[in-house]
Amino acid sequence: MSNEQNAPSSAHFDTLVVRAGIRPDPTTGAIVPPVYQTATYVLPEVGVNKGFDYTRSSNPTRQTLETNLAALEGGKHAVAFSSGMATVDAVLRLLNKGDHVVCSDDVYGGVSRLFNQILTRFGLEFTYVDSSDPEQVRAAMRPNTKLVWIETPTNPLLKVTDVAAVAEIAHAHGVPLGVDSTFATPALLRPLELGADIVVHSTTKYLSGHNQIIGGVAITSDDEIGEGLRFCQKSIGAVPSPFDCWLTLGGIKTLSLRMERHSSNALAVARFLEAHDKVARVSYPGLESHPGHAVAKAQMKAFSGMISFELKGGIPAGRALLNHVRLCSLAESLGAVETMITHPATMTHVEVPREERLARGLTDGLVRLSVGIEHVDDIIADLDEALRAC
Ligand SMILES: Cc1ncc(COP(=O)(O)O)c(C=O)c1O
Repeated sequence: MSNEQNAPSSAHFDTLVVRAGIRPDPTTGAIVPPVYQTATYVLPEVGVNKGFDYTRSSNPTRQTLETNLAALEGGKHAVAFSSGMATVDAVLRLLNKGDHVVCSDDVYGGVSRLFNQILTRFGLEFTYVDSSDPEQVRAAMRPNTKLVWIETPTNPLLKVTDVAAVAEIAHAHGVPLGVDSTFATPALLRPLELGADIVVHSTTKYLSGHNQIIGGVAITSDDEIGEGLRFCQKSIGAVPSPFDCWLTLGGIKTLSLRMERHSSNALAVARFLEAHDKVARVSYPGLESHPGHAVAKAQMKAFSGMISFELKGGIPAGRALLNHVRLCSLAESLGAVETMITHPATMTHVEVPREERLARGLTDGLVRLSVGIEHVDDIIADLDEALRAC
């Protein structure tokens, strides 16, 4: 292998995050390839280009990111978008009017909003089931079902779905399985290896990891799906900026290390919360008490950094906790190095009627915690102090 090469495809995951797809700058040898912050490319002559003609269609920095992400998921094609939502939208645009989708019932609220309030207007139909019970997926399949869409673990209730079991059900009906694996990342879960056909990430979260960008990616080994997504990327144009791709590449280099720390911190925080008398219930796939623990243990390398828990004191307790934390940041989003905390009843889901919110399991005292990579003792001390106010 020449010194200019990056990594063999057989390399370990921890090597791929640092190396896959990344070649030194051919002009200077710079170890970090530059940002190709350009809209267009000068053509050497009419009808000839060097692989790039316009950045909406293709850009070297974006291509590097896509190559890297395809390697991390063990997929053939990775197609990057300007947000996680734009990515989910692109996947759904592979369907046609009248097609039906079976979907996890606890998908991220932005995803169900896209499905229910926009895509239904274009003739798509959705059935929501608790996909942590694969039999519910099987029962919801219809002759016009064209996609099964799951999130695992889910946002915000951390439900876990057996990817291999649901892939088998989807394939028995001749339809692809799409997995939003944002919470797990390829460091902890490899859905394509378990039979999924498309993996989607909001790269805004753990993949970039530093609260600096909004982005998304879809990865597949299916050529037809890959070409369809590439066509959507250039035709719709929801592309990430080269600079955002470059920042994402920088973040990915430490993905393995960060996920180890997120996971070990979260397990310790979850155990602390589970033993706390102000806390009614903790949902973390790494806890033995989690109903999806056995499946999570079998299919994931570790359990990631997301916890949801329920305070006994309902809305007043939620407000008190969020107003008294000092280290944990009161901020939407997740998956970054900083610990972030949200209270769905007064923040992300404040506009959802209470009955509907409760029906979705988003109780008054529910708190979602994205455990960061700070020292775990400091995170626990902050929560311990703030819980006194609840
Ligand atoms: C699981 C999941 N999927 C998709 C998205 C949407 O990603 P973005 O905010 O990058 O559009 C989010 C955002 O929180 C998410 O949590």
